[in-house]
Amino acid sequence: MSQRDFLKLSDLTTSEIEAIWKRTKEYKEGQAKNKPLQGKTIGLLFEKPSTRTRLSFEVAVIQTGGHPVFISSRDTQMSRNEPLKDTARILSRYLDGLVVRTFSQKTLDELAGFSAVPVINALSDLYHPAQILSDLYTIRERKSDLQGMKIAWLGDGNNVAHSWIEAACLFPFQLILACPKGFEPNEAIWEKAKKEAGERVRLTDDPIEAVRKAQVINTDVWASMGQEDQALDRIQFFQAFQLNGNLLSLAEPDCMVLHCLPAHRGEEITDEVLEGPNSAVFDQAENKLHVHKALLEFLLDGGKNFGR
Ligand code: CP
Ligand code: NVA
Repeated sequence: MSQRDFLKLSDLTTSEIEAIWKRTKEYKEGQAKNKPLQGKTIGLLFEKPSTRTRLSFEVAVIQTGGHPVFISSRDTQMSRNEPLKDTARILSRYLDGLVVRTFSQKTLDELAGFSAVPVINALSDLYHPAQILSDLYTIRERKSDLQGMKIAWLGDGNNVAHSWIEAACLFPFQLILACPKGFEPNEAIWEKAKKEAGERVRLTDDPIEAVRKAQVINTDVWASMGQEDQALDRIQFFQAFQLNGNLLSLAEPDCMVLHCLPAHRGEEITDEVLEGPNSAVFDQAENKLHVHKALLEFLLDGGKNFGR
């Protein structure tokens, strides 16, 4: 039986997330001096490429006193169909925690179900919860309060969008998603959010409606990892959803632009917007490191040093 996992954002409560952010600030400001992961070894099992998530977790482990071990699934017996339930039980006899980037959420659920150590989702086809934990932190850092804020999502109803939808059930902001027809979010995730967040979550296929007076605009690639063969076909459906100067001019003047990166300049976002004064993308990427330290500490050390 696994310990505390983080497979989707709603695996944490609002007050636990608040406590993680409080600790994040202490890490970022250099006030967290203890090494809660001392003596712990954390595996990073990746089935897909990664720059930010892999590195920020690896460095977070090192800087909190632990030891990271990167595991490319291709180099393991997983690539020769060793059952996940065996892999999970073996890995959790060597490791104290497992950070996983994979395709199917079922893979994560199965690994977590058979793991005796905490499992963290570092992106699946369904969710990217660790990303949204640091994206929300980045918004709070600049704008302090999420209450009533209008946050827009432009583009694909994908893994990142799904974690934003879960976030809107935990925090009192307005989330409006503009997705092309046929590329809306997962129906079950959407229906659950409608029940929990009601009118605070909205879906449209009109990007102008979504960005008008928005205080934050998020976007992401039009074809995610694993969908590369659809990339060319998708352009025709997504073109009107490009985050460019025209759309940004409809938002609040100090609107924050977020993109989890990597970005495809000239597709979902223009170079002008990504490099412009509204863009927070590099702070957003940096914050993954600080947030991951607090998340790891919470899951592996119980957050006992968190001044809640
Ligand atoms: N944002 C993000 O998850 O980036 P990587 O794919 O580089 O980890
Ligand atoms: N939606 C993107 C996010 C990359 C960080 C993907 O899954 O490829």
